Amino acid sequence: MTRPDPLAYLTTELDTLRQQGLHRSLRILEARQQATTQFDGRTVVNLSSNNYLGLTTHPRLIERAIDAIKEFGVGSGSVRTIAGTMAIHMELERRLAAFKHTEAVVVFQSGFAANAGTVSAILNKEDVIISDELNHASIIDGCRLSRAQIKVFPHKDVDAARKILSELPAGQRKLLITDGVFSMDGDLGPLPGLCEAAEEFGAIMMVDDAHASGVFGKNGRGTVDHFNMHGRVDIQVGTLSKAMGALGGYVAGSKDLIDFLYHRARPFLFSTSHPPSVAATCIAALDVLEQEPQIIERLWENTRFFKKGLETLGFNTGISESPITPVIAGEGSRAMKLSDRLFEEGVFAQGIAFPTVAKDKARVRTIVTAAHTREELQFALDKFKVVGTELGLI
Ligand SMILES: Cc1ncc(COP(=O)(O)O)c(C=O)c1O
Repeated sequence: MTRPDPLAYLTTELDTLRQQGLHRSLRILEARQQATTQFDGRTVVNLSSNNYLGLTTHPRLIERAIDAIKEFGVGSGSVRTIAGTMAIHMELERRLAAFKHTEAVVVFQSGFAANAGTVSAILNKEDVIISDELNHASIIDGCRLSRAQIKVFPHKDVDAARKILSELPAGQRKLLITDGVFSMDGDLGPLPGLCEAAEEFGAIMMVDDAHASGVFGKNGRGTVDHFNMHGRVDIQVGTLSKAMGALGGYVAGSKDLIDFLYHRARPFLFSTSHPPSVAATCIAALDVLEQEPQIIERLWENTRFFKKGLETLGFNTGISESPITPVIAGEGSRAMKLSDRLFEEGVFAQGIAFPTVAKDKARVRTIVTAAHTREELQFALDKFKVVGTELGLI
């Protein structure tokens, strides 16, 4: 007797996605993650990575990773709380704490784990979270896992956040949380206003600086440094997966916050720690940030050049303030067409549609890096001009 497939409903859902034109196959990277590379058999200028500083292929990082593998092996073999805390994990945490000017840091396996693991550990169902409507999925999942009440405020609306805070009882435990850089629009969270509100109403202040780490602030310390909010943000999350070129996330804050997370953050307790090579790579990335700040300057020069180029061509680039520049195309199918045609022309800029962004704000998202040459960026602009004209976007 053939057994009916209990997962047949997933096939039905996939068919629906296909009918809606929302089914995507993964693009396969067949070479290094770098400014010009090969995806799906085609050589393209790559405007889709988060490799802001080009560190995925930096010789110092590669060398340190190889050295660590030779010295310590390829895996940590355990979760942090049993046998998987290696000296090099502790060295990375000390280095990150010094970098962020905080008492302590805990490293997680990813930025996602850092956000979700932290919010769910420090709050429970008696508490309230006040969260920007465009905060990252890992924050949203952390909020849900905590079982706290979630109150969402309109994007970057400090007054709305204040109003929610002001209506809560004074003794209520509450967390005010924002992205430092929003990943779809590239705009900045309004840290000064939110910090002031958190202080006035006694809320815990938390910032997810995944896209700001290595990009904003002195030597890439993030938005807290950029806005000079040191000491006013209780919990800073950073990622090691984007500008730092490797993998991981971290939480920077007080000694007691970090010690508490060592005891209660579930990804820390129940998932194996990084291979030592990842920790070594991240330490090397910190060395680069401190000793080669000209890389960050190059990122910003490229960002200014490319943004200006897109704006001069007449594209709608939204409200970005960072190296993330959306090119807003309107309907989902138009954004996907823009992305597909650019790819055919030799430029990879990922299309993003509903539900990730609003239905009428589908876009391709571009991210320049420090490693792009002017020629590569000019090539991409020339192709944007061709395809944008073809699709009636400019
Ligand atoms: C705003 C934001 N926070 C957190 C993350 C998660 O970081 P990671 O890729 O290190 O898990 C991302 C990455 O997609 C992000 O964009």
